[in-house]
Amino acid sequence: MAKGSRRLVLGFLLLLLLYATFLRSNIASLHLGKLQLPHWSDNLIPTGRSDGTNVDDVELTRFLLRRLVPGKARRELSQNGISCIADPESDLCVTTDAVRISTATSSSPATVYLTAGQQLRPGFNPFVLRPYPRKTDSFAMQRTAPVHLLAAHSKPPPCDSTHPFPAILFSTGGFAGNFFHDVNDVLIPLFLTAGHLRSRAQLLVADFEPWWTQKYRRVLLHLSSAASLAVASSPSTPVEPKVHCFPAAVVGLKYHGSLLCNTSDSPGGVSTLDFRRFLHDALGLKGERAAGAMRPVLVLISRRRSRALLNEDGVVALAKKVGFEVEVTAPARMSSVGEFAGVVNGCGVLMGVHGAGLTNMVFLPAGAVVVQVVPWGLDWAAAEYYARPARRMGLHYVEYHAAVEESTLYDKYPKDNPVLVDPWSINRQGYNVSRPIYTDGQNLTLDLARFRETLSQALQLLPRPTRPW
Ligand SMILES: *[C@@H]1O[C@H](CO)[C@@H](O)[C@H](O)[C@H]1NC(C)=O
Ligand SMILES: *[C@@H]1O[C@H](CO)[C@@H](O)[C@H](O)[C@H]1NC(C)=O
Ligand SMILES: *[C@@H]1O[C@H](CO)[C@@H](O)[C@H](O)[C@H]1NC(C)=O
Repeated sequence: MAKGSRRLVLGFLLLLLLYATFLRSNIASLHLGKLQLPHWSDNLIPTGRSDGTNVDDVELTRFLLRRLVPGKARRELSQNGISCIADPESDLCVTTDAVRISTATSSSPATVYLTAGQQLRPGFNPFVLRPYPRKTDSFAMQRTAPVHLLAAHSKPPPCDSTHPFPAILFSTGGFAGNFFHDVNDVLIPLFLTAGHLRSRAQLLVADFEPWWTQKYRRVLLHLSSAASLAVASSPSTPVEPKVHCFPAAVVGLKYHGSLLCNTSDSPGGVSTLDFRRFLHDALGLKGERAAGAMRPVLVLISRRRSRALLNEDGVVALAKKVGFEVEVTAPARMSSVGEFAGVVNGCGVLMGVHGAGLTNMVFLPAGAVVVQVVPWGLDWAAAEYYARPARRMGLHYVEYHAAVEESTLYDKYPKDNPVLVDPWSINRQGYNVSRPIYTDGQNLTLDLARFRETLSQALQLLPRPTRPW
């Protein structure tokens, strides 16, 4: 074999080895944490080649960052040092070369200066994007500040601080603050974008809300070697003007779909189950599998303002009669992620009317059951946001469709009104029409005789208690 082609084959084998050892093992071993990184890299990454040089950290990080963009964009990234891609819900720019990032001030947006000769496409300098993965939702985008990327600037500002790892810049504007959106729009996209960097990332937060980063601190620290930095203020929180410098950067987040990590989408190889494992590691949750119990715990997510269960007391009594220990949880309880995650992690069944509280399913142990009560007219949303994700997370899923008579809409509209007889005709008109009716405008009184079957079904799906003898 010619020397050149042998080198090519060796290089290829090295990449394969890197892929096999690093990328597949990184998720499973994320819980080792950054402190053990040297140990881990000595053992799993081939550190020496036959010619005695070391596999460079910088090269490895670049290799990982390139995987965030597919095909043609990856070639562009190699040639221009930067590539920006437009996915259906998110815009994302990846650069494998140095940047300086100035925080936003009252008169200028957060700006990423591309200082290593990166080339933006003609006509796109500056390139402007809003780093929150809901770009088709104008309301979310209004609440997300734009970030500018600037190439070939003659006088980029000097660095106030220099960081060793790539910047991952994202926003906690948009719909952040609602638990479904926190997980779906921010935490899962962050995991997809930064998880494979094994903490060798510096998180930068635009539309910064201190309570948000505080609430998810443990999760964020599982992705980054240092506390998050604020780069653009929210209306409530001004951010100090500063210039941060990095060897590389990602602006914006990958997004795959509702509570979804798609193994066949870039960066590739991570599943929704991997996200769940990551989250459980970050929060130190110990429950891996639902355990058999004489009286398994059912956590009921109680709703108060809309989609409330008007006969909640009756539902609780019924669940006890069927054989559950019942814990009713009001939204205030959920404000502490760590504490409530532990409660959910120890239960067998998580039950609730369709709504953000059901997102707590991410904390359930494998084999647990999600029971979703689907209000009138909300079948589509129930399937998209909770039913399919529950199954993808290795959970059992049971649903109860409220009949129209169980909804307060039944008394509010004439019996032949399309709201009652043809919800699809309402949903088709868009969320701004359907929301006040189906999402915000109904409460439910469950038919307890019929609901009993749903609860029995959930109980049967749980493992049988193991006898102590
Ligand atoms: C995952 O991505 C592939 C390729 O883009 C696509 O065909 C598939 O439908 C996606 N899966 C889900 C669950 O969206
Ligand atoms: C709902 O939004 C659409 C566009 O998104 C608009 O055309 C329509 O007028 C809105 N309807 C109402 C009731 O606000
Ligand atoms: C639903 O019930 C809550 C109280 O539990 C009440 O405040 C709200 O107005 C009710 N909404 C509807 C649409 O009936």
